[in-house]
Amino acid sequence: YKEQIPIDKGIDNSLAMMREGYLYISNRRKRFGKDIFETRLLGGQKAVCIAGEEAVKVFYDESKIKRQGAAPKRIRQTLFGEKAIQTIDDTSHKHRKQLFMSLMTEKQLQDVVNIFKKEWASAIDKWESENEVILYHEVTKILAITACKWAGVPLSQSDASLRASQLEKLFDSAAAIGPRHWKGRQARNALELWLQKIIKDVRNSKLETPEETALHRMAWYRDTNGKLLNTEVTAVEVLNILRPIVAISVYIVFAALALFENPEEKEKLLNGDEDVFELFIQEVRRYYPFFPFTTGRVRENFLWKGHDFKKESLVLLDIYGTNHHPNLWDNPEQFTPDRFKEREESPYDLIPQGGGDYYKGHRCPGEWLTVEVMKSSLDLLVNHMEYNVPKQQNLRYSMMRIPSLPKDRFIMDRVKKV
Ligand code: HEM
Repeated sequence: YKEQIPIDKGIDNSLAMMREGYLYISNRRKRFGKDIFETRLLGGQKAVCIAGEEAVKVFYDESKIKRQGAAPKRIRQTLFGEKAIQTIDDTSHKHRKQLFMSLMTEKQLQDVVNIFKKEWASAIDKWESENEVILYHEVTKILAITACKWAGVPLSQSDASLRASQLEKLFDSAAAIGPRHWKGRQARNALELWLQKIIKDVRNSKLETPEETALHRMAWYRDTNGKLLNTEVTAVEVLNILRPIVAISVYIVFAALALFENPEEKEKLLNGDEDVFELFIQEVRRYYPFFPFTTGRVRENFLWKGHDFKKESLVLLDIYGTNHHPNLWDNPEQFTPDRFKEREESPYDLIPQGGGDYYKGHRCPGEWLTVEVMKSSLDLLVNHMEYNVPKQQNLRYSMMRIPSLPKDRFIMDRVKKV
């Protein structure tokens, strides 16, 4: 049988999407009483929005959904870069994905955590003598230094603040319009030029890099045709390592907020083991908003649950909405780390960093790294320092601003190392 997909009327609903942010898809799913509806976005293109476990399965079925031509230009100009792994399909995608996954060995994950802990420890020394500390800005810088060290990208101390702020702008600008968007494009241009020079130096043996680093691997990566990537695309892919590591700062700030708002949960983490940290981190990634949705395009016409998916239509998978879907989560609007205690892991329900298979599809290759760095930051916040959260600040976060963050970026004072 066939069933008409409910339609959110209008020739272009981009404005409503800007206004409703993370809740644009959920609001309409509630209104239609369905996990699927059609709308027009991004210059009036037809787009099908879907949510829930079955939706994740169909979205990650690569015979049905592709990525080429899916990411809007404004996202490529800020967040992704041109010709990035996010925008390619099939064998060339799988081959390049292998490159990203090869960086995520147990040893390399341990390395990144060690670098991160060391940088954080020396930052605490500085924080102790400061009147107040804005956690988001501090962690952004710590993570930029960590990312460059781990990836083998040379970064002088005097450049650290500049590069941290440019890397932050790449993800801060992606969904914005006006000046915030333009700053992101400028930051991308500057960062790409900086990295292109470094990549040339690696290729001309002017710069030595350890073999296991992202910079080395990417500079010498050969694609399915046995060719090196050009310097532009190589820079884009090195940024695909540096930028998202810096973006973990968003989650670390939400973890700090969660600790503040749920003191009884903090209690459980005092000298807790890896497992309790993991429950808390998974719930932070489920509960707080980060990516609202991800995009693909229909490869060939197909029918799903009686609904027509037309070739080349845009498809939006509701990430935030799936992480809060009432069929998947009891009391989804409550912060409850224990919900993960005896829950069986599935690649199709907790999808803050995408779903499906890492190697075959577009699921985030940095998910393990994210979880490890978050666990380590949680241990540092709970067991290795004391701090006060001054009342005089706005801790609210907007569901319209993408990415969302507590308004004042989480201010702390009276920081002490313990
Ligand atoms: C892809 C989220 C951290 C590298 C993705 C996707 C999401 C995501 C939603 C797209 C999934 C899809 O479209 O199917 C996040 C979040 C992070 C994070 C919320 C936390 C800050 C990282 C880290 C790295 C990374 C630390 C690298 C070190 C990538 C790459 C892709 C990707 C290269 C593209 C993969 C592909 O197209 O095959 N991420 N990510 N991400 N992420 Fe992450």
